[in-house]
Amino acid sequence: MKDITILGIESSCDETAAAVVRNGREVLSNIISSQIDIHTVYGGVVPEIASRLHCENINGVIRLALSEAGMTFDDIDAIAVTSGPGLVGALLIGVSEAKALSYALQKPLIGVNHIRGHVAANYISHKELEPPFVCLIVSGGHTHLTIVKDHRDFMIIGKSLDDAAGECYDKVARAVGLGYPGGPKVDRASKGGDPYAITFPKGEVKDRPYDFTFSGLKSAVLNYINKANMQGAMINVPDLCASFQNAVVEPLVERTMKCAKAYGIKNVALAGGVSANSALRAAMKKACDENGFNCYYPEPVFCTDNAAMIAAAGYYDFLAGCTADTSLNADPSLKL
Ligand code: KG4
Ligand code: ZN
Repeated sequence: MKDITILGIESSCDETAAAVVRNGREVLSNIISSQIDIHTVYGGVVPEIASRLHCENINGVIRLALSEAGMTFDDIDAIAVTSGPGLVGALLIGVSEAKALSYALQKPLIGVNHIRGHVAANYISHKELEPPFVCLIVSGGHTHLTIVKDHRDFMIIGKSLDDAAGECYDKVARAVGLGYPGGPKVDRASKGGDPYAITFPKGEVKDRPYDFTFSGLKSAVLNYINKANMQGAMINVPDLCASFQNAVVEPLVERTMKCAKAYGIKNVALAGGVSANSALRAAMKKACDENGFNCYYPEPVFCTDNAAMIAAAGYYDFLAGCTADTSLNADPSLKL
């Protein structure tokens, strides 16, 4: 079969990214221009600033992705772009750019769901991985327990009924003074902490064995911090972070295992920014080993937002003939 080379573009939040990927799995280049330093000043992503920075950077990022791959636009078979979910103004920059390129170059355009992109990051890191597999998707905006029945066919088994796991990490990090972005900082601060030092609630949802809830945990951590501050008590940050992390990871792993057993699926994958978390990776691997399942997670650079995963997901849409036209629009609340 002829090689298919896809240019991926991602601009849904605070990374302007472009990548060239061959046959959905082989990354020829992966450029990520992070805006973290700028948003850090404000303690979180400022949508208007994100859009403006995407606008300034996107052409350069695409040019660099092509040159690092040793290619020109002539070598590209299709352009895949994140069309949602995400910040609407940020998404629009990538979508407009991709539409313009597709029109000017007369190459197919593919609109990619960002969450499906996260799942496809596993195809890059694990060349042998094929559906069906259970995939726990944990990002800043989403917590979904899914079965990937086929590359383009997802079944949602469970989800968070309130906050996403990543959002919870970010809020706790801010409250404890670690700043933005919270997840990696809590991950790092928890090293050396005792995960059983403080008992936090591990969100059970009555009669919904596969769903998650993190708002109670978030409130419990914030109350703990407020109480300590009012009493002038010292907070042991490593213990707090490790205990919080334990309360996030345990239900994630427990429900993922329950799902894999109930549906008789041997392959279990993680996806999304929180899948870079060292405690989650270790706990999921251990549980998989104990239950005789195979555990997959992307390399850290493909866990958080990048365009290689968008090109990887777009490859399967391309094979299915599922391309878009210039009416493609950004959809901030696009569903999985
Ligand atoms: O997937 P992602 O890059 O963007 C979205 O699509 O939302 O996920 C970002 C989220 C943030 O909440 C960030 O704090 C979290 O992933 N994150 C982590 C780690 N690295 C990123 N959370 C826990 N541990 C990490 N090492
Ligand atoms: Zn993401």
